[in-house]
Amino acid sequence: MALRITVIGTGYLGATHAAAMAELGFEVLGLDVVPEKIELLQAGRVPMYEPGLEEILQKHVAGIEGSTGRLRFTTSWEEVGAFGDVHFVCVNTPQKHGEYACDMSYVDSAFASLAPHLTRPALVVGKSTVPVGSAARLAKLLAGLAPAGADAELAWNPEFLREGFAVKDTLHPDRIVVGVESERAEKLLREVYAVPVAEGSPFVVTDFPTAELVKTSANSFLATKISFINAMAEVCEAADGDVVKLAEAIGYDERIGSKFLRAGIGFGGGCLPKDIRAFMARAGELGADQALTFLREVDSINMRRRGHMVELAREAVGGSSFLGTRVAVLGATFKPDSDDVRDSPALNVAGQIHLQGGQVTVFDPKGMENARRLFPTLGYADTALDAVRGADVVLHLTEWREFRELDPEALGEVAAHRILLDGRNALDSAVWRAAGWTYRAMGRPTA
Ligand code: UDX
Repeated sequence: MALRITVIGTGYLGATHAAAMAELGFEVLGLDVVPEKIELLQAGRVPMYEPGLEEILQKHVAGIEGSTGRLRFTTSWEEVGAFGDVHFVCVNTPQKHGEYACDMSYVDSAFASLAPHLTRPALVVGKSTVPVGSAARLAKLLAGLAPAGADAELAWNPEFLREGFAVKDTLHPDRIVVGVESERAEKLLREVYAVPVAEGSPFVVTDFPTAELVKTSANSFLATKISFINAMAEVCEAADGDVVKLAEAIGYDERIGSKFLRAGIGFGGGCLPKDIRAFMARAGELGADQALTFLREVDSINMRRRGHMVELAREAVGGSSFLGTRVAVLGATFKPDSDDVRDSPALNVAGQIHLQGGQVTVFDPKGMENARRLFPTLGYADTALDAVRGADVVLHLTEWREFRELDPEALGEVAAHRILLDGRNALDSAVWRAAGWTYRAMGRPTA
């Protein structure tokens, strides 16, 4: 009989994973402890903007006309225990308040709630990003609490999906990494991922600690790459060089590669910042803190970018104070094709300028609702044009496609001054300059 799969936690990761598992042909039951989320998903809707996700949900959620009916949702642990052969744990691990370490309470409580309902053989698969050593600890917990005893086994299978590409990354992953302690666990996971493996996704089998470390080291590498190019942007600015050209030129070296070398206001979001901090905290506990001190520098280069953008904006409005000035901010999300504003560099810059007395008006194609909730005192406009109306300076802080398609002439007509600061190095400087704008970007010559 085909495997039956459950997905515990239906946030970004879980909702996408559940829908993708149904798309791969499995019967899937998703669980969340928040009844409102379950109601929404059961209606085929998701609480966030993620291209393509609602479509595959609606294709599979039971009760929706024309669906395969393979995907259902519940709040009952008992139902989940009885239903699943493979249980994916996809709850989040945010940064602890006032500390670098990550908060494991959602993971711990998911395991504590699930284990007593594991009365038959089952594989529990952790997907959440956790500090190394967690899997070994959770395996013990499972063995102690599950009525099925040793038949309830653990595996660790980190997830590398990017927001904005979550569906694609889940259905066609770059690689599948599984930390297992038995052949049975490996066999079950090969069955789950048979389709992507047949399509060519590499399947890497490791022990628990390595699987956990693959995730945190991959994110640390990406963060380092971004901070590296941003450090080069600082040097370029001091030496009158052009970081965009520099990135292009070093990127042709295949050993370096051109991806993730876009200089600008740096990385944010719900993953990279908190993951590198949690990694440093864990390395400290393990006595290996020296190995990761460079991540402190990666973090501080990154945070410095936000402050630098604020200073460029201050210079653009006269150099002393933001009082009495109007600042248009294009973009609020931490990256395009997402409505996520968690630790968003764009919103952080907007907030800093606002707190220093500037009148800030923000527009974002998808992030308005979340931005308003997080930062209700900022001004918000319904369109980019409205945000720019009367502005002394325009800040381009999230590289949405629609911002690249803006008409510099039309914007110039409503702006008080034609000054544009490109915090993402994504707009065509020649086009803006040709329309009479002073275009300034991070790490590039001023004229
Ligand atoms: C990241 C990892 O890519 C993913 O594998 C992991 O599972 C979760 O964390 P995500 O948070 O969705 O994914 O965003 P990502 O596309 O990695 O971008 C992160 C941040 O880096 C964004 O704020 C983006 O604007 C910034 N970035 C990215 C740059 O500043 N420059 C770049 O060249 C690339």
